[in-house]
Amino acid sequence: MHKPDYKEARTRDKRDYKRMDFSFDKDILNKYCGKTYYIKTYGCQMNEHDSENISALLEKLGFKKVDSYLKADLVLLNTCSIRENAHNKAFGMLGRLKHLKNEKKDLIVGLCGCMAQETGVVERILKDYKFVNFVLGTHNMYQLPEIIDKAIVDNSMQIEVFSREGDLYEGLPVIRANPYKAYVNIIYGCDKFCTYCIVPYTRGRERSRKKEDILLEIDQLIKDGYKEVILLGQNVNAYGKDLYDDYNLGDLLEEIALKDIPRIRFMTSHPWDFTDKMIEVIGKYPNIMPSVHLPVQSGSSRILKLMGRRYTRESYLELFHKMKNKIPGVSISTDIIVGFPGEEEADFLETMSLVKECQFDNAFTFIFSKREGTPACRLEDFVPLEEKEERLQRLNEVVNYYFLENHKRLIGKTLKVLVEGISSKKNQYYGYSENNQLINFTSQKKLKAGEIVDVMIEEAKTWSLDGRS
Ligand code: 5AD
Ligand code: SF4
Repeated sequence: MHKPDYKEARTRDKRDYKRMDFSFDKDILNKYCGKTYYIKTYGCQMNEHDSENISALLEKLGFKKVDSYLKADLVLLNTCSIRENAHNKAFGMLGRLKHLKNEKKDLIVGLCGCMAQETGVVERILKDYKFVNFVLGTHNMYQLPEIIDKAIVDNSMQIEVFSREGDLYEGLPVIRANPYKAYVNIIYGCDKFCTYCIVPYTRGRERSRKKEDILLEIDQLIKDGYKEVILLGQNVNAYGKDLYDDYNLGDLLEEIALKDIPRIRFMTSHPWDFTDKMIEVIGKYPNIMPSVHLPVQSGSSRILKLMGRRYTRESYLELFHKMKNKIPGVSISTDIIVGFPGEEEADFLETMSLVKECQFDNAFTFIFSKREGTPACRLEDFVPLEEKEERLQRLNEVVNYYFLENHKRLIGKTLKVLVEGISSKKNQYYGYSENNQLINFTSQKKLKAGEIVDVMIEEAKTWSLDGRS
C-alpha cells in the first residue's frame, strides 16, 4: 500500500525521470473477457484524455464498455480535486455504488485521478468506503491493469498512490472519444503553485514529453485522418523548459503547423510564460487556431499577488492587447475566481472593469473553494458566501452580455466549421469555428463529420451561433 503525502508532493528537486516504453503484461491480456466496465470522468480535458487511455487499458484486459454503471462489472471514477463540488459529486457517486455493491457483491469499484492524490480522501475511503477495491494515483496510471488484477485475485483493497512523479511512460494504448479531434499531452504537472490551487500537489512537477514523441504521435494522428489536435497541459506555455535550453511551445507549435494538419489548438496558457515568439508563431500559421485560453483569475493586482499569479492587472492587459494586435481575429477566453480570501468590493469592481475592457469571448467563472493543503486555505476569509454568490451573479451577467455582443458581430460573416455531428432534426449539423464557437447550421448538401465547411452566420445566441452552409 502506498498512501499520498502532501509534503512529498510539494517538493520540486530537479530529479531526472526516465522515459519508459509501456508494455502490457501478456499474462493478463484478455483475462477478463466477457466482463464490462463503465468510467465516470470528472474535471478537465486532461482527465478526459486519461480516461481514453484507461478505456484502452481495460479493453486490453478484456473488459467491454457499457453505457450505464448499473450494467457494469467494473466501475471506475476518474476524479477531479479542483473545487469542493467536484469532490461532492464523486463522493455522491461512491454513495450510490455502496448501495449497488450490497446487491451485487462481485462489483469492482476503483477510484483514480486527482482525488486519489489527496491525503484526506484516501483516509476517508479507508474509513467510510471500505467496499472500494482500488485507489490508483495520477503518477502510475500505467499500473492500472496489474492493480485491478491484484484487487480481484487477492480480494483485497489496493491503494497505490505515489506522491512524487515517477517515470514518464510513452506508448500507452488509447481509445479516442472523437474520430477527428485528438488530445495530445505535451507537458504534465505544474510548478506555478498559485496559492488557491491543488493541481501542483495532485499532478506533480512540470515534465515535458520529448518533442520527438509528440511529433510521432501527431504524424500517426494525421495518417489516421484526424483534423484537429489539441495540445494539453496544466500550463502548456512552460513546455520544454525542463528538457531543452532553446526549444519552447513556440518552436513546437511551428513544427506541428508545418505538418498536414488543418487545426491545432493548445490549452491552458499561463500569462507568465507567454513569449513574443509564441504570439508571432500563432499569428503566422493559419492552421494554428486563433483561440487562446488565458486565465486572468482576478482584475485586482492586490488579489493577484495574494493568489501568487506572478503578473499584475496592467501586465495582463498589456499581453491581452498585444495578442489582439498581433494574432489576426484571435478570440481570448478566460477563468475568473470571485471571493478569494480578502477580496473587497473594490477588488471585485476591478475584475468587473477588466472584463468590460477585455470583452472575453468565453469565461469560466467560479467562487473560491478552499482546498486542504494549499496556502490560501489558511488565509482569513471574511466575505460571507451570500456576498460571493451575489458577486458571481453580477459577474456572469457582464460576461454573458459580451458573449452575445461578440456573437452578434458575426451575423452575415462566413466562418469555417469542422463538422462534428448531425442533429436529430433533418439537414441540421453542428461543429466548431476556428475561434472555438459552437455553430448549429443547416445544409442542403449531405455533409460528413470531419469535413471543414463554410457557414454563413444568421443568428447569434449567448452560447452558440446559428447559420447555413
Ligand atoms: N477555487 C475556485 N476555483 C479554482 N480554480 C482552481 N482552483 C480553484 C479554487 N480553489 C479555477 C481557476 C483555474 C480553473 C481551472 O479552476 O480559475 O483556472
Ligand atoms: Fe493551478 Fe496555477 Fe498551475 Fe493553473 S497555473 S494548474 S491555476 S497552480
